[in-house]
Amino acid sequence: MQIRNTRQRWGAAAQLLHWSIAAAVLVMLGLGWWAESLGYSKLKVDLFWVHKSLGMLVLAAMTLRLLWRLTNPAPALPGGLKAWERGAAHVTHYGLYVLLLAMPLSGWVINSAANFPLSVFGWFEVPAIVGPDDDLKSLASDVHGVLAWTIVGVLVLHVAAALKHHFVLRDDVLRRMLPGVRLRGSDGEI
Ligand code: HEM
Ligand code: HEM
Repeated sequence: MQIRNTRQRWGAAAQLLHWSIAAAVLVMLGLGWWAESLGYSKLKVDLFWVHKSLGMLVLAAMTLRLLWRLTNPAPALPGGLKAWERGAAHVTHYGLYVLLLAMPLSGWVINSAANFPLSVFGWFEVPAIVGPDDDLKSLASDVHGVLAWTIVGVLVLHVAAALKHHFVLRDDVLRRMLPGVRLRGSDGEI
């Protein structure tokens, strides 16, 4: 399989980034809500340590993904879609890019404004992006919570659309994001 995208399908790099970020984001949502639900304890501190570390890796992966996307044209959407369906696909995809960059950035602001140190899995330290500031910390915290639910809402639409393409429209939209899956299209490219 090619590293770069072709006109028919996503390349290996885009697929790897899509599925690893998708898995990390689901873990991150679970970790965030679980850790928030706990009273002060060592487990809570440890969960947030993993949450912040993994979240900063999501930020790095999303930045890489955005650069890759900007330099690598996406495969064309299948023909026959209505104008609103094309519009909805673009809005949800661009929306997910914005949300998945804003989510870790707002977390980084909470941590910096709270004046906590930030180390990614103990491998390296990340500097603060803002100075200590209680008002900014609670604003960023509210933003972080609202963004989490917005991501869940957009993902429900995203996954429903992917499944509709696969099972109802029976086109290649899901297949071309899966490694090693033969396309149904006439070119038969793998
Ligand atoms: C946290 C979970 C997920 C996130 C954050 C996410 C994010 C994204 C984004 C941003 C794109 C646009 C790619 C681009 O234009 O560069 C995309 C494409 C895609 N996603 Fe997801 N996704 C997630 C989960 C899923 C799941 C569970 C499925 C399948 C059921 C799926 C199926 C697809 C497909 C098929 C495409 C390609 C659409 C096309 O070819 O036009 N995604 N995803
Ligand atoms: C994709 C990335 C991220 C996702 C999906 C995510 C998700 C969440 C969720 C669902 C919560 C619980 C919210 C609530 O109950 O109101 C939360 C809380 C929190 N997250 Fe994240 N997070 C991400 C990245 C980060 C990063 C990078 C940091 C810090 C460097 C961070 C720091 C925090 C903190 C400190 C809280 C505690 C609650 C607060 O003060 O609002 N998060 N996160």
